[in-house]
Order: sequence, then structure tokens, then C-alpha cells
Amino acid sequence: MNVDGTPYRTIWLAEDGWRVGIIDQTRLPHEFVTITLETLDEAAEAISVMRVRGAPLIGATAAYGLALGVREDESEAGLEAAYETLFATRPTAVNLRWALDEVSTAVRTAGAGERVAAAYAKAAEICEDDVATCRSIGEHGAELIKAAYKKTGKPVNILTHCNAGWLATVDWGTALAPVYVAYDAGVPLHVWADETRPRNQGASLTAWELGQHGVPHTVIADNAGGHLMQHGRVDLCITGTDRTAASGDVCNKIGTYLKGLAARDNGVPFYVGLPHSTIDWTIHDGVREIPIEERDAAEVTHISGRSDDGEVVSVALTPAGSAAANFAFDVTPAALVTGLITERGICDASTEGLLGLYPERR
Ligand code: MRU
Repeated sequence: MNVDGTPYRTIWLAEDGWRVGIIDQTRLPHEFVTITLETLDEAAEAISVMRVRGAPLIGATAAYGLALGVREDESEAGLEAAYETLFATRPTAVNLRWALDEVSTAVRTAGAGERVAAAYAKAAEICEDDVATCRSIGEHGAELIKAAYKKTGKPVNILTHCNAGWLATVDWGTALAPVYVAYDAGVPLHVWADETRPRNQGASLTAWELGQHGVPHTVIADNAGGHLMQHGRVDLCITGTDRTAASGDVCNKIGTYLKGLAARDNGVPFYVGLPHSTIDWTIHDGVREIPIEERDAAEVTHISGRSDDGEVVSVALTPAGSAAANFAFDVTPAALVTGLITERGICDASTEGLLGLYPERR
């Protein structure tokens, strides 16, 4: 997608063929800064502090991070240690494990002296696959937006939570890919972007990337969605997911579940966009089995933004001494999900629905 008219992906290989470029998302929306990762530790830090975030991009960065690790030490012990370092960064998005397993297998099957090249090749393949996958999610999901427009003849209002746009993937996004495809096809639409406390991915990232593409949008407080749905001002909810259970339960940014409940109460369709890499076929009960990341309470007690004199500052929100808890994700049970938008088409949020699209998993 474009940044001030220049096409960008969220991650790329530098011209030297080994260093890895990323957009530092902690600096958005106030500054657009790219940085270069040179070591395994830098890749792990970028994931932990959320310079890169979003399940597919976490996977892509981990893949290149492992390639950097193998470059530092291509022995089996080196591979295992690098895997563990990256695996420990964030627990919820299953793309992390998926990408690390893919690269590890490629490295182990490569001949002596070819392990580094095999790791880089697999990381590049994961990135290319993500772009094609997300584009395809966009094409399938855009049909829902087109159908909603056909029904009313009015601009389609789509509510999304967190950032599941191109910044969360290598390109295109998951929840927002249908928005981009429909918008580019000329369908009149408007996005309600939940601000998404505590890290404000909606206010900072979704709003920024939609604005870069010219998509009409409005940032709303997290708690506004239910009110808007009660008053017929949301035609469709579309969110992403960090881990999708084989049962169709979806784990996404904290607060997604409440949107699913409000959508159900108001008869608003609630769809989830996801690539194959977020499906955890080993988990059947999302609520009980998916690990929920708990992050530093400082993300709740403090907030950062740009002051009127242009400086980016962090300020305290809560009384000194109040405890704060920072649960980063929640699970929306399959029963609240109207459908899953995948690269292979749209299915019911159920084991049968998923197996219908991925019969090789039967
Ligand atoms: O904590 P984050 O910013 O990594 O959380 C991101 C989300 O919750 C996204 O909705 C999810 O990764 C789906 S991404 C396409």
C-alpha cells in the first residue's frame, strides 16, 4: 500500500540481501520511520515492544528473525536457541509458532552450508504467501460489502477493532483487505475505527493507513460501537484474529468479544478475516485453550500522544498506586461469528465450515 504515494510493504529485505527493513509502528501516526534489523535480538525486540505487530506480521518478522539467528550461528543449537528467543516474544498470535516451524523445517532439510540461504528463502516465501493470501481475503470479503451496498444503495458502514489492515500483515491486511478491494472498486463505504485501548492501534494505525489510502473513516471510543449498532449505523463488523481455534472461536484484540455481543444483540453481521496461518488446528476450545497475553500495566496507566507543541509525550492517566491489569486479547466464541473470510472463501465459524475450506486437515 502507499505511504504519501510511495508503495511500501511492512517488511522487506535490504539491498544487501541480509538485513531486514521494517516500519517502526511505535512512531505512527506522528512520524513515519523505517529501521533496519541486523540481529536476532533486534528482531525479537521489535516484536516484543510492538515496532511490528499484528499476527501475520509477527510471523513474517519472526521468520526473518530466525534467518538472522541462523546467520549468526547456523548450528542446530544456534537454531534452537534462536527459535526459543523469538517464540518467547508474544504468546497469542499462532503465526509466530507457525512461521518459526516453517523456517526451522526448511533449515533442517537444507544441506550443510545452505542453511542460511534456506532460512532467508523460506522467510521470503512466507512474506509473498501473506501478500497473496491477504489480497484473496480482500476479494472474498469485498463481495459482502458490495452485497450490503446493493441492498441499501447507501454507503456501507463497517466497524473494525484494533488494526487488522496492511500494517498488521505484509500488505493488504485481513479485516481491512475487503475494505480496500471494495473501495478501489468504487463501492461507497465508511469505516468506524475503534480506538482500541490501551495501545490505540485503531486510533493510531487503522486511522493512519485508511487516511493514506483515502478511505473515509471515523475514530470512535471503544465503547461507542454498541450505541452505533443500536441506531442502525453499522452494516457490518469485520475484525482480524490472532489465533482461530479449529472450532471457529476467534482470539483477537481485547474488546473484540464485546463487539461480537453487541453485533449479535442488534442483528449486525460479524465477520472475521483470517489467513490459513492463524488457524490453530490443535485447539478446539478457544476460550479455555488460547493463551492470552498480559502486557505491562504501564500501557494502561499511561498514554502517549503528540502535544500541541508537536512533541510526542507520555502522560499518566490513573492515580499513583491504583493497580492496573493489561489483558491484550479476548476470545469471541464461534456462535457470535457470522462467518470467517479466508483466502479460500467464506465459511461458517465451525469445525465443519473450516474443514470444508481446508479438506486436507480432515
Ligand atoms: O497487539 P497487536 O497489535 O499485535 O494485535 C493485533 C490484532 O489484534 C489484530 O486484529 C490481529 O493480529 C489480526 S491481524 C491481521
